[in-house]
Amino acid sequence: MNDKLKLLREKIEEAAKAGGEQRIASQHKKGKLTARERIELLLDEGTFEELGMLVTHRATDFDMADQQYLGDGVVTGYGLINDRLTYVFAQDFTVFGGSLSETHAEKICKVMDLALQNGAPLVGLNDSGGARIQEGVNSLGGYADIFYRNTMVSGVIPQISAIMGPCAGGAVYSPALTDFVFMVDHTSYMFVTGPNVVKTVTMESVTSEQLGGATAHATKSGVTHFVSDNDADCLYAIKELLSYLPQNCEEQPPQVPYQLADESRPTLDEILPESSNQAYDVKAVIKELTDINSFLEVQKDYAQNMVTGFGRLGGRSIGIVANQPMTLAGVLDVDSSKKGARFVRFCDSFNIPLLVLVDVPGFLPGTDQEWNGIIANGAKLLYAFCEATVPRVSLILRKAYGGAYDVMNSKHIGSDMNFAWPSAEIAVMGAKGAAEIIFRKEIAAADDPESMMTSKEKEYAEKFAHPYKAAARGFIDEVIEPNESRIKLIRAFQMLTSKVKTLPRKKHGNIPL
Ligand code: HXC
Repeated sequence: MNDKLKLLREKIEEAAKAGGEQRIASQHKKGKLTARERIELLLDEGTFEELGMLVTHRATDFDMADQQYLGDGVVTGYGLINDRLTYVFAQDFTVFGGSLSETHAEKICKVMDLALQNGAPLVGLNDSGGARIQEGVNSLGGYADIFYRNTMVSGVIPQISAIMGPCAGGAVYSPALTDFVFMVDHTSYMFVTGPNVVKTVTMESVTSEQLGGATAHATKSGVTHFVSDNDADCLYAIKELLSYLPQNCEEQPPQVPYQLADESRPTLDEILPESSNQAYDVKAVIKELTDINSFLEVQKDYAQNMVTGFGRLGGRSIGIVANQPMTLAGVLDVDSSKKGARFVRFCDSFNIPLLVLVDVPGFLPGTDQEWNGIIANGAKLLYAFCEATVPRVSLILRKAYGGAYDVMNSKHIGSDMNFAWPSAEIAVMGAKGAAEIIFRKEIAAADDPESMMTSKEKEYAEKFAHPYKAAARGFIDEVIEPNESRIKLIRAFQMLTSKVKTLPRKKHGNIPL
């Protein structure tokens, strides 16, 4: 028995050495942790159970039979995060550059299948040179097996990807199919075709970092949702995100203990600027409304005219969608519509109630917007709200103009509770623009067109720039004082906890993708 135990222990030791000391040192030199070090930081201490530590590849071409590393370049298994079951895989760059072989893919598929069967989140830590070049189509097949599973489990369990090194070619499509993508600044990149191919085809000179680094994907493409300075911060951020999410689509999100106290927030009475055309930071409003230190912003550097993120209200997880008057006056445009739509659909998939803070002057005009499809993209956000069956609450802070009023979770498209502050302006458009159109003739014929314009603008504002017409129709359930917003929202979401709403029977809808 002793010999047999010795053999087992030797194998475990060999697997732990991965690609060897030199390659581990080189990984550290790049500022990156190894796959096992990452898993250790991600999971609650001492909870990791590894699966397939002794798996080896089956390739024989190019002398591959002589190059065997136990585990084949990916560490897979399960453990606890915040005391809750989580499945994980971490690609090991020290073994064939973390490249994906047939068996490497089988190991990932195995944890995906377990995660689906047992209803727990999957976290994938990506650090890979792509398809194992020595394996050809076996590797490509392995990728496709993963893509298929990513799609099948989508909406059943939360899927989180962290890019912690290279992720190139078709390999990017697994993270892209998951719910949230984290990137580590300066040590990770993602692109379909790298700088060399780009140079050959389009003559553009661009570095890997410029083309597909964390900044590019956080600000330009919107592919990544969170950026961290280093591996440890990235792993910590994943844990924080998971703390807001349920384990699967059948569960409610976790609730942290919360004792109602004095929930009034007098600062909210003063939070809006005097003029309705002045900007302010909607994140200051979110901070006052949510429980202390409980706002986690998603895609914070992308389409900043819309703020999305998770928060807690009275201890319950909610998803927040808010127009941001600080950027582009909070208009809806192509990117913010896509950002909002995807976030709303995630929350709806996982039973996370939605709070929508409205201050929107309309849609952004221009050829750029029209030709880039503001029609189809704006429709995505509209569709996402219309089909969401989770508890939905809106609070109109200030402007709710035109079609954007309808889109931003209005009563008409299925919102459950609609509040407005007295500063709300619910109208087809702003008073100035409206007066210019409907009183054009009177203004032109007036002795003093300017003062006529001012008086007509005032007349329109008095008629429409308030919430009381909408409240009179029941489109707004209650006009509330800003300071009482928090308690009103907590009670509204409490009242909606047992909401049951089903959609008409169908195979699936056809969101304008
Ligand atoms: C096999 C690979 C590999 C790969 C790297 N290695 N990529 N082995 N298949 N795809 C090995 C290297 O031979 C080396 O082995 C070790 O990993 C580390 O690689 P280095 O090049 O020394 O590291 P570095 O300088 O950091 O560069 C990393 C890299 C580079 C940028 C990822 O290795 C690279 O460009 N690799 C090829 C990328 C690629 O073209 N992949 C196929 C893409 S197509 P030793 O023994 O020296 O340690 C694809 C299609 C997917 O992925 C399709 C899905 C649908």
